Amino acid sequence: MHPHPTLAAHYPTPEAKPEFVNRLFDRGARHYDAVVDWGFLRSGAAYRRWSLQRHGLLAGDRLLDVACGTGLVAVAAVKILGTAKNITCLDPSAGMLAVARTKLAANFVQGRAEQMPFADQAFDFLTMGYALRHVTSLDATFREFHRVLRPGGRLLILEVTKPAGRFPRALFRLYFGHVYPFLTRLFTRSNDARDMMRYYWETMDACVPPAAVLQALQGAGLAAVKRDTLLGLFSEYSAVKPLASPRPPPPLP
Ligand SMILES: C[S@@+](CC[C@H](N)C(=O)[O-])C[C@H]1O[C@@H](n2cnc3c(N)ncnc32)[C@H](O)[C@@H]1O
Repeated sequence: MHPHPTLAAHYPTPEAKPEFVNRLFDRGARHYDAVVDWGFLRSGAAYRRWSLQRHGLLAGDRLLDVACGTGLVAVAAVKILGTAKNITCLDPSAGMLAVARTKLAANFVQGRAEQMPFADQAFDFLTMGYALRHVTSLDATFREFHRVLRPGGRLLILEVTKPAGRFPRALFRLYFGHVYPFLTRLFTRSNDARDMMRYYWETMDACVPPAAVLQALQGAGLAAVKRDTLLGLFSEYSAVKPLASPRPPPPLP
C-alpha cells in the first residue's frame, strides 16, 4: 500500500517518486532545521525527546533512526542514550545526511526504508520521524522494520496528521497549506525551501488514514500496535516485535 496516491503535479508515476523526493530534500536540506524549528514554535527538539522517553527508549539500546534527515530525532535520542555510538542513521538524501553528520558521531548509512542494508534483528529500537509519507510502500517498509528489530524490540513512528473535525481541519489547511510555505519563502528567500514545505502539506493532505497505517503495521507481523495522539495532530505510531515472531506474510505478487 502506498502512503498517498501519485501526486501528478510533482512526479508522473509511482516509480518517479523516489527521485523527486530525493531532489526535494537534497535542495531543501540546508534550510530544513531552521524552517521546522520556527514552524513548530521551537517545540520540535523537546517533543522528539519526550516521545522517545515515553515510548521506552533506554540507555544501551541499539537505535536505528530511519529517514534521519538532518538528525533531529537522533540528536534527541543522544540525550537519553548518553552517546551516539549505538545509533545508526539511515536516509536516501545525501544533502540531509551531510547536515546530520555535522551534529553527531553516529553510524550514517545512505539507503531507503523499503530495503535496508542491515542484518536481521540488529536493533533494539527503531524510529522514523515525519517521513512515512515519503516511502513507496507501507507494507515493504514495515516488513523491513520487523526484520531488523530483535524480538521484543520496539518502534516509534512520528507523524503530523490532518485533524478530524471540520474547523481544526480548515485551520490546519490554512497554516500548513498557505501560511507556512509563504513564511518559509519569506524568511529563507529560497524557492527550494518553500517547495519542500508545500510538498509537506500536500502529502499530509493526501495521506492514507491512521487506521490504514495501523493495519499495515499489524500485517507486517508487529504486535501491540497503537496510535497515540497529541492535540489531535501529532501521531505516535508504536509497535513491538513479538518475542516468538512468526514470519511476516510474503510480499504480494
Ligand atoms: C521531513 S524529513 C524528516 C527528518 C527527520 N526524521 C525529522 O524528524 O525531522 C523526511 C526525510 O525522509 C527521507 N526519506 C525520503 N524517502 C525515504 C525513504 N524511502 N526511506 C527513508 N527515508 C526517506 C528524506 O530524505 C528526508 O530526510
